[in-house]
Amino acid sequence: MKTNRDGCRNSRLRCFHINRVMTEMTTDEKTEEFDLKHQLICSIIPELSFDAHKGTNGRIAVIGGSREYTGAPYFAAYSALRLGCDLIYVFCTKDAAPVIKSYSPELMVYPLLDSSNALEEISMILPKMHSVVIGPGLGRNESLLSTVGGIINKVKDMDLPMILDADSLHFICKCPDIVRGYQKAILTPNAAEFDRLYATVYNSDHQQDPLEAVNSLCKTLGGITIIRKGREDIISDGNISVTCKEEGSARRCGGQGDLLSGFLGTFAYWSQKAFARAEKELNAEKYSANVIAGLAACMLTRRCNRLAFAKLGRHMTTSDMIKEIKEAFTRLFPVV
Ligand SMILES: *[C@@H]1O[C@H](CO)[C@@H](O)[C@H](O)[C@H]1NC(C)=O
Ligand SMILES: *[C@@H]1O[C@H](CO)[C@@H](O)[C@H](O)[C@H]1NC(C)=O
Repeated sequence: MKTNRDGCRNSRLRCFHINRVMTEMTTDEKTEEFDLKHQLICSIIPELSFDAHKGTNGRIAVIGGSREYTGAPYFAAYSALRLGCDLIYVFCTKDAAPVIKSYSPELMVYPLLDSSNALEEISMILPKMHSVVIGPGLGRNESLLSTVGGIINKVKDMDLPMILDADSLHFICKCPDIVRGYQKAILTPNAAEFDRLYATVYNSDHQQDPLEAVNSLCKTLGGITIIRKGREDIISDGNISVTCKEEGSARRCGGQGDLLSGFLGTFAYWSQKAFARAEKELNAEKYSANVIAGLAACMLTRRCNRLAFAKLGRHMTTSDMIKEIKEAFTRLFPVV
């Protein structure tokens, strides 16, 4: 078995119980293509090791949380942590901080987003991060716009994976050029947000089928990744598009999108790291690190939904989905 310098097994060799997974799939999914993507996902999941130190499996930042919205950043941060990153930092406004802290002692919460020298203070902590999720619970207070723009530029300078969700997409709509050409950016619009972004960039509505529209927008924006959430999630980096056909449920409770962006924070870091280390082996595949991370996050979110729905039906909430992360993850990605 091939190992890299960290003893981390690469590529196709990480999925030991692939047969168990395959039996849970519908016939459509039991194709070779699915198999390859699935094995790539398994190959990016870091092994737990006694040699690793705290932080190795991810220090993730969530930028968001305002007076009105405290649940969204909590869900994003907590799901990133539950998935398996080591440390999670929330950068929110002053009045959101005590509330978010009270939800969980496991999050580090910095009340800096609306401080007078916000960008400067946040920029001092950001270099410790492995990936950054911007948007959950950000709100639309115009006074935060320049700080958010500054953070986006700073993340680009540091060349980190950057997830743009929720209210940060509102910002991207005003100035799409800020992400143009940044291939470590992942945007997670729903159908309406996607249409708005498309219309802004092309100055007209799209007529094509959604898969083509997503693909062309990614390409036009220089190879960024877009996950268009919908009945089926569409994931594209402009070179290749995949759909996530994992079954969820008809129950759509608030907060699910925050779970997805939190999962993405962790998966995007794992994926970038695995692809960078494995160089030829993984990069020879036609799927990019972002597409693999995106597919993993969509599959996991949907499986959590399905498992919670099976227990609680229409009474399930996003907190119930969080309780299913372990079960969903082990069934989907049975790595040791
Ligand atoms: C926007 O932020 C400013 C500065 O923090 C604050 O004074 C103002 O009340 C906020 N506006 C709204 C509508 O929340
Ligand atoms: C898409 O393909 C082109 C040409 O092979 C490559 O330069 C570019 O980096 C690829 N984009 C992504 C997001 O991987």
